[in-house]
Amino acid sequence: MRQAGRFLPSYRKIKGGRGVLDIAKDPKTAPLVVENAVDELGVDAAIIYSDIMLPMEAIGVSLEIRENVGPVILKPVRTPADVAALGSLDPAVDMVYLGDVIQETLRRLDGSVPLIGFSGAPFTLAAYLLEGGPSRDLRTTKKVMHSDPDLWRALMVKLTEAVSAFLRMQVRHGVDAVQLFDSWVGCLSASDYETHVLAYTREVFRSVEGVPRIHFCADSYPLLEKFQEAGPDVLSVDWRVPLEEVWRRCGDGMSVQGNLDPVLAQVGGAPMTEAAAGILGMARGRRGHIFSLGHGVLPETDPANLRKLVNYVHEQTRAPR
Ligand code: CP3
Repeated sequence: MRQAGRFLPSYRKIKGGRGVLDIAKDPKTAPLVVENAVDELGVDAAIIYSDIMLPMEAIGVSLEIRENVGPVILKPVRTPADVAALGSLDPAVDMVYLGDVIQETLRRLDGSVPLIGFSGAPFTLAAYLLEGGPSRDLRTTKKVMHSDPDLWRALMVKLTEAVSAFLRMQVRHGVDAVQLFDSWVGCLSASDYETHVLAYTREVFRSVEGVPRIHFCADSYPLLEKFQEAGPDVLSVDWRVPLEEVWRRCGDGMSVQGNLDPVLAQVGGAPMTEAAAGILGMARGRRGHIFSLGHGVLPETDPANLRKLVNYVHEQTRAPR
């Protein structure tokens, strides 16, 4: 999940007054942010410093990432003309910096840990474009989905192509795995997901090959089987789902990433390690569990807690030499 962020003093220092998108496009600074986060936390994998909104900007969406708010779309999508105005993404042309950022990040990591590339999923990106920013209930998104199927389809087709191209480019430049974030999809019923979203996400996974593909969905409890149907190699779940439940419902062969509540990483101490022990206990004896937080690190978290958490997980899981 998110490794850099306000909780890390070294990141705040590097960031200064600059924006997330500005740094993500800077092949000198973005790789440094990744290297620092990995060094400071001691984690077993790095995630590229980027944002789910980067390809949206590249296809012509005017947006800002505001602190404590998130992405804000200056002119939300409302009409077929708005969808038609979105370009189709050719990352080799529209996101030239990305190759340089990945290559420099790989050079800095020097094989010490694998590098994960990522993208937002078509649904979550569509929701941002339609709502204009973060929203509690995604009312506009659902309204369009149900009342204007042509607009919905046109938007989802365009985003599916952009997301696939964005991920494929990251794979071409050498990332070791990709993660697709469908952060907002938990707002949907299982039948709406199946009718209006599943085929697009499945197309993304179908078109990205050659590396393990992780699918993160928040609020995944009711929709687990559907997310599995989308075709990822690993299901990444938030803290609401006991891991045992994922294996029970999706099969023992499913690889699972998760899922400590980020609030517990903020609390630290015994409550954090006890909760981590519970998660590791459910995964004991199984292959294919990746320990992580159930969502991104909260800004108020003391990095020392995260270091303790990483050490604890290592102590509990590393085979004795
Ligand atoms: O940690 C890393 O270095 C990974 C890079 C990363 C960023 N965004 C950079 C960033 C990743 C993996 C993301 C994913 C992302 N961005 C998602 C999917 C995961 C999730 O959280 O559900 C979403 C929905 C976004 C959109 C977004 N960007 C939000 C909601 C925010 C938080 C706004 C806030 O201030 O609360 C951002 C900003 C952002 N993107 C930050 C980072 C490191 C935080 C900026 C900061 O802490 O200074």
